[in-house]
Amino acid sequence: MFGILSALGQEQGDLLARLVPSAPPRRIAQRDFHVGILDGMPCTLVQSRIGKVAAATTATLLIREFGVTHILFVGLAGGLAPALKVGDVVVATALIQHDLNAHPLFPKHEVPLLGRARFPTDTGLSALLAAHARQFLQDAAANLAARLSCTPSVHQGLVATGDQFIQSQATAQALQAELPDALCVEMEGAAVAQVCHEMDIPLAVLRVISDTAQDSAGMDFPAFLNGVAGVYANEIPTRVLRA
Ligand code: ADE
Repeated sequence: MFGILSALGQEQGDLLARLVPSAPPRRIAQRDFHVGILDGMPCTLVQSRIGKVAAATTATLLIREFGVTHILFVGLAGGLAPALKVGDVVVATALIQHDLNAHPLFPKHEVPLLGRARFPTDTGLSALLAAHARQFLQDAAANLAARLSCTPSVHQGLVATGDQFIQSQATAQALQAELPDALCVEMEGAAVAQVCHEMDIPLAVLRVISDTAQDSAGMDFPAFLNGVAGVYANEIPTRVLRA
């Protein structure tokens, strides 16, 4: 069974409204876990709230309390790489905690005693997610063109995670210099990826670019969250579940 995890409700669009519940929501650790059938597929929907601790706790509960066998993370991100435009989709191939630094005890970004900094996503599930995201961008081209100032595309690569909302050109540039292959920045993915790695659960991460992590990000993010995020969330996750 799939768990669909997002930080915020708007990042899941109307998925919760479409879920046919098989039981009342279970509230654990101040989160509501909704188990049911979504477009014919069994799944559990939950919102973690923002940040790495919230996301790791929620992923652990999804796996241990609800028996999910696969996790799909759906949310927004700030674009870092110059090629990334608002409305583009990033499917993570790996995730890293950009704010983790136990140097000189361990190399920068490495999770101490786990011997790794980058946590890969599941190759097959991510390929499926990227294929469905591409198809969605084609199918929804007219709708998206009315809302975006560019024609969006799908990118696959490294996602950087930290407990920090990035909204300055200097900080975004410093992150890019430190992690030149990072496509975008967000606040939960690498925490979920670490949990999934440790618990051997296949993970795919979908991030839609809501802002470019520059000075206007504090306004661009909520505008995209409330205006556009649902267009993607309503379609892409269920296409993957049905596949
Ligand atoms: N999620 C969406 N935009 C972001 C940003 N600029 N920084 C961190 N997380 C984000």
